[in-house]
Amino acid sequence: MEIVGTVIELREKIQVWKKQGQKIGFVPTMGYLHEGHLSLVRESKKRSNLTVVSIFVNPMQFGPAEDYKVYPRDLERDRALLEREGVDLVFYPPVEVMYPEGYKTYVEVEDLQDKLCGKSRPGHFRGVCTVVLKLFNLVQPDEAYFGWKDAQQVIILQKMVEDLNLPVKIVALPLVRDHDGLALSSRNTYLSPEERRAALVLKKSLDLAEKLIIEGEREARKIRQKMIELISAEPLARIDYVEIVDLKTLEPLETIGDQALIALAVFIGRTRLIDNLRIISGGIEK
Ligand code: PAJ
Repeated sequence: MEIVGTVIELREKIQVWKKQGQKIGFVPTMGYLHEGHLSLVRESKKRSNLTVVSIFVNPMQFGPAEDYKVYPRDLERDRALLEREGVDLVFYPPVEVMYPEGYKTYVEVEDLQDKLCGKSRPGHFRGVCTVVLKLFNLVQPDEAYFGWKDAQQVIILQKMVEDLNLPVKIVALPLVRDHDGLALSSRNTYLSPEERRAALVLKKSLDLAEKLIIEGEREARKIRQKMIELISAEPLARIDYVEIVDLKTLEPLETIGDQALIALAVFIGRTRLIDNLRIISGGIEK
């Protein structure tokens, strides 16, 4: 497994593979890898001839008061994990390679970028779309793998690919959880043991929503209300949002029909965590 950090080195490799007609799978990450990331890598290994992983903590997608500086980083650990999975190439660029001085170009997916997480993280999805488009242009993958953990990110990137006619297929894969149900996230390392326990309230509120839906409840307002009550009973939790929206437009739904996204963001202490569940063709996807 090779690790490269410059555009020239990356392009050289990719050009050779493209000439050979290899099918390239790509997993963009910000590193500090866990089983959620590795599930994407394994799918890429299954479906593609060659797998490229990027590790880049993208400053453009962090707000000024957010955790860019303290975001966990451990290249040696990530390298060992990716080597064990049989990854072919890791792209690990320094910030100046992605954003040289005088950088001016940005990608925005209007409307979708302003909903859910976009409300409390203005500029976040502009940063995500910009870096992902750059990475797609560099790696030129046939397929790119993303997790439903970040449902809004998947929906926005699918729209970007469609609108800009990008020759890449976005493959979205299930959210991976810890043994007790907490959605795996690099940010879970910020949690104290007490906060780690309190963080289970996100999954518990989704379990409650699922139970209500299975019992026949379809009114979004009622499900939302019950979820909010449950989360508010946890003293360490502070709700950013709990929403039930259309899976394509991310517009709030009054009634749950064929499809819906139930998404939430909750601060546990100072750590902001997200979780979601999707309803597709009336069934629940986890
Ligand atoms: P990061 O948070 O490192 O996540 C990289 C990929 O792993 C994303 O597609 C994310 O949805 C997926 N992932 C994270 N936790 C997961 C879990 N518990 N189960 C399944 N998949 C999970 O998302 C980003 O980085 C960045 O925004 C990026 C796309 C790399 C652009 O900078």
